[in-house]
Amino acid sequence: MIHTIRWGSNCIYIIDQRRLPQKKEWLVCRSLQDVITAVREMAIRGAPAIGVAAAMGLALGSHSIKTEKYGTFRRRFLEMAQQMKLARPTAANLRWAVERMIRIVERMHDNNVKEIKEAIRKESQIILEKDIEINLKIGQNGLGLIPDGATILTHCNAGALATGGYGTALGVIRAAYEAGKNIHVIVDETRPLLQGVRLTAFELMEENIPVTVIVDSAAGYLMRKKMIDLVITGADRIALNGDMANKIGSYQLAVIAKENKIPFYVAAPISTFDPDLKNGDLIPIEEREPKEVISFAGHLIGPEGVDAFNPAFDITPAKYISAIITEKGVIKPPYRRSIRNLFDTEDYSGT
Ligand code: MRU
Repeated sequence: MIHTIRWGSNCIYIIDQRRLPQKKEWLVCRSLQDVITAVREMAIRGAPAIGVAAAMGLALGSHSIKTEKYGTFRRRFLEMAQQMKLARPTAANLRWAVERMIRIVERMHDNNVKEIKEAIRKESQIILEKDIEINLKIGQNGLGLIPDGATILTHCNAGALATGGYGTALGVIRAAYEAGKNIHVIVDETRPLLQGVRLTAFELMEENIPVTVIVDSAAGYLMRKKMIDLVITGADRIALNGDMANKIGSYQLAVIAKENKIPFYVAAPISTFDPDLKNGDLIPIEEREPKEVISFAGHLIGPEGVDAFNPAFDITPAKYISAIITEKGVIKPPYRRSIRNLFDTEDYSGT
């Protein structure tokens, strides 16, 4: 299985996902700023993976704070945490990981700075390892939703590359394949940055899971032709009422799936939920550079200077989501109640 991020001795290694699948290159991050740039420019992407990167980035950054005084350390650390949070606005996991690191600093006010730095670094590794465990659980919990012989449509990349490892939506697909189910995966290309054709198709081929790539606009045709049995995606943020933000194009897939009576499932860890937001309209949607839209694989295809609009995510209202698969089990509508229950039983702080 691919691991997209890991610690070096005084640095972090990240697989540069902008180069995949043609080149597997490790990007070396030696400072918090390197990590922020890697997240912003999407050398590493996917909600849980950028959460892990944020935690590791802060651990790296904390080592550059040269003071023995707790107050000075805390102030500098909080500034860094704020910068890290702003790298990408939509995924809940990034903010969740940053807040988890802040809580360690707040809690250790009686410890010396060296001990705090060690604890922060240890915590970032725990976040990485726990994320893989969580994805394995999501995979097992989702198994029952995948019939033997199913053709599954997935969007973007919610695989090992988008997480600490194994994946969320792709984790469920992996688990079904590993359980011996005869499945076929349809992957849409996922314009503008092509995470589907570049990353998801690559991950599936590495594991010999049957895969066919389509253009984004072919999904409706396939659904109407009964060539898809279910749709499964990851999520970047899920509001209290079950509305979810995911890669642009998810909403239209969910609407077409409902129109064709095809279940639309979402697989996500609890760190992707944001119970403070009543509904999806409150989720901040990242807008990326217009040039991504008028280029294809880095080549300009539109007329120079043409206007373009590039929202990176959209909101799928809860009414289109058949179930959400988490590490705590599969939750179904009405989501407000089931998501509240999830947080009543979960130590959300993770600390
Ligand atoms: O812009 P990206 O590539 O970071 O968007 C990723 C997605 O939308 C994924 O589906 C989501 O983060 C879930 S990853 C397990």
